[in-house]
Amino acid sequence: MEPILEIRHMSVFFTQYERGIRKRILPVIRDLTLSVEAGEIVAVVGASGSGKSLLAHGILGILPYNSHMEGTIRYAGESLTPERSAKLRGKEIALIPQGVTYLDPLMKVGDQLRKGNRSEAVRSRIRRALERYGLGAETEALYPFELSGGMARRVLIASAVAEDPRLIIADEPTPGLDARAAERILGHFRELADEGSGVLFITHDLELALTVADRVAVFYAGETIEEASAEDFKEPERLRHPFTKALWRAMPEHGFKPISGAQPYPGAVLAGCPFAGQCSDCLPECKTAEEIPLREIRGGRVRCLHPYGERKKEETI
Ligand SMILES: Nc1ncnc2c1ncn2[C@@H]1O[C@H](COP(=O)(O)OP(=O)(O)OP(=O)(O)O)[C@@H](O)[C@H]1O
Ligand SMILES: [Mg+2]
Repeated sequence: MEPILEIRHMSVFFTQYERGIRKRILPVIRDLTLSVEAGEIVAVVGASGSGKSLLAHGILGILPYNSHMEGTIRYAGESLTPERSAKLRGKEIALIPQGVTYLDPLMKVGDQLRKGNRSEAVRSRIRRALERYGLGAETEALYPFELSGGMARRVLIASAVAEDPRLIIADEPTPGLDARAAERILGHFRELADEGSGVLFITHDLELALTVADRVAVFYAGETIEEASAEDFKEPERLRHPFTKALWRAMPEHGFKPISGAQPYPGAVLAGCPFAGQCSDCLPECKTAEEIPLREIRGGRVRCLHPYGERKKEETI
């Protein structure tokens, strides 16, 4: 069966002008290949600035005007052009945006969720969606400025999933919510996936991702550096990339060891592996390689010249 969402070789570039005259092309996502099957929750995990929101916006055809995208995106077996995406957005394809500013400040909650449809069926569907997230009927009469941050976030989520979407793209859906509310949302994603939808769950929090995801795509400086099953994280010797191992070690239950250094700014890496500056296993060729292909190893994928499981030198976790 074809995946619900299939992204192949996606790259996103920004055009910038230095001092107003010199044109500069800034690559922010490079050669990203990722798919989501029906019934599956795929988490995209990466640090702030790694390109996660741009990935979501690229899929939905809502990238900023000063950017352009390469590569192909297919949804349910057909090419997802910006026109097709505009038609499906808010219906079959739901975006839970990262910022609550996506709510219309001048429209009451109930009106924005109903999108002009006053039928009883729509009314009761909206009511059920809000109730599911602990928001009573009175919420419908409020304007966004009358909502707390957590309420606004729950309204966004209720609005996105009210239409029974087949593909849900959730961009950091849980910050500002208490653990129970977050659990309820992730539990609902699981239900939607079990009913046959695909979910792309974007987060910076690996621990949270592993509570619900089937697969994890690890994002670093605009590239997927590893794709692993959630199971692989239970046996860390199965993990393939030094950054994924470092993320695993940074989890509270695995010692909370911080990763030293910072991810490079987009466009700063001209050659070699973007993680080279932070990698404790970096070799000279890692800094100069022209291309580091994404390779399949042990049922997952990795973008590393010397992934774990293929090294001769003693392996450590
Ligand atoms: N309109 C823009 N013009 C130029 N660069 C941009 C623009 N929007 C985003 N970027 C850059 O693209 C990179 C990726 O941004 P993005 O918003 O996708 O990050 P993110 O992974 O979602 O981060 P966060 O976890 O903080 O939400 C960042 O380095 C950012 O500076
Ligand atoms: Mg973001």
